[in-house]
Amino acid sequence: MKKNHIRRLLVSAICISISASALSGCGSLDQDGSAKKRIVRIALSQAESHPEYEGAVKFKEYVESELGDKYEVQIFPNELLGSQTKAIELTQTGAIDFTIAGTPNLEIFADVYEVFSMPYLFTSEEAYFAVMDDDYMKTVYESTKDTGLQVVTWYNVGTRNFYAKEAIETPDDLKGLKIRVQQSPASVKMAQAFGAAASPMSFGEVYTAIQQGVIDGAENNQLALTDNKHDEVAKYFTYSKHQMIPDVLIGNYKFLDELSDEERAVFEEAARISTETEVNAWNQKESEAIATAEEMGVTFIEPDIQLFKEKVANVQQEMLDKNENITELYDFIQLYNAKYEVSE
Ligand code: GCU
Repeated sequence: MKKNHIRRLLVSAICISISASALSGCGSLDQDGSAKKRIVRIALSQAESHPEYEGAVKFKEYVESELGDKYEVQIFPNELLGSQTKAIELTQTGAIDFTIAGTPNLEIFADVYEVFSMPYLFTSEEAYFAVMDDDYMKTVYESTKDTGLQVVTWYNVGTRNFYAKEAIETPDDLKGLKIRVQQSPASVKMAQAFGAAASPMSFGEVYTAIQQGVIDGAENNQLALTDNKHDEVAKYFTYSKHQMIPDVLIGNYKFLDELSDEERAVFEEAARISTETEVNAWNQKESEAIATAEEMGVTFIEPDIQLFKEKVANVQQEMLDKNENITELYDFIQLYNAKYEVSE
């Protein structure tokens, strides 16, 4: 309740300050007579300890080091401005300028992003990184332009796995369990294919939902256990490794489009640096999260992944049959899957 109240106050304050600056015009001055800075706001759902926050700080530092007389970047972590879906809406309307969110949240804006929700889409981490670093992704990023949103860069958030109050050793253990998934139709389908009852909800609601028994578990990377304290309420984490879903930095299209070429180059370099920072920090944070969760009494289970794969073996084809907009990206991903195929 308290957090929701603070969030409502913050969002109203932001909206009022935006209307005020629009009314006062661009040429307004600060009390000391210097030109007013344009505040650039970034929302993310992760905490200050998450590598994405570190990446966002580097973004801020670079933009302000190059264009500090004109822009001040403010970062809002911990879903302070609302769930990822809400923050994307705020970015779309221009109430804020950037949001970091998982691609499932973009599916309703551009259904090409459904591809990342396919279980076992990437056959290796190398293929995943190669795809995300390929210039081809820029054409995918362009696909939300007409919705007022533009993806600028991506962040690695590891592999998604099931975790619950009870041990999940095989996919049969998922039967009848209420598992939280991200708020996207493809995520719901994925959990159902595993035999679970899918419960879509925002990330920030998961802790209380597990604690109060509204759901039995969720699926995410290891940092959710520690950064979001899910290790207090879910003591079994099963390496089903069913998805590698990127988070993306989504910008307001108009804001980006109205930047001069020089400014745009600065923002793009800031985005590149933020990704580099985040990706470099990820592996260590992941190992630290595992160690901390173990200290909290979490058991990490290494199941027979083949059983999990077999359970959802038809899902990729079913999704391809239903959505022709994912075919091209799917085929592109297969090229890298083949390139990095482990020969046994
Ligand atoms: C990951 C991811 C987030 C996403 C979250 C979720 O933590 O980094 O972007 O919101 O999963 O499951 O909602």
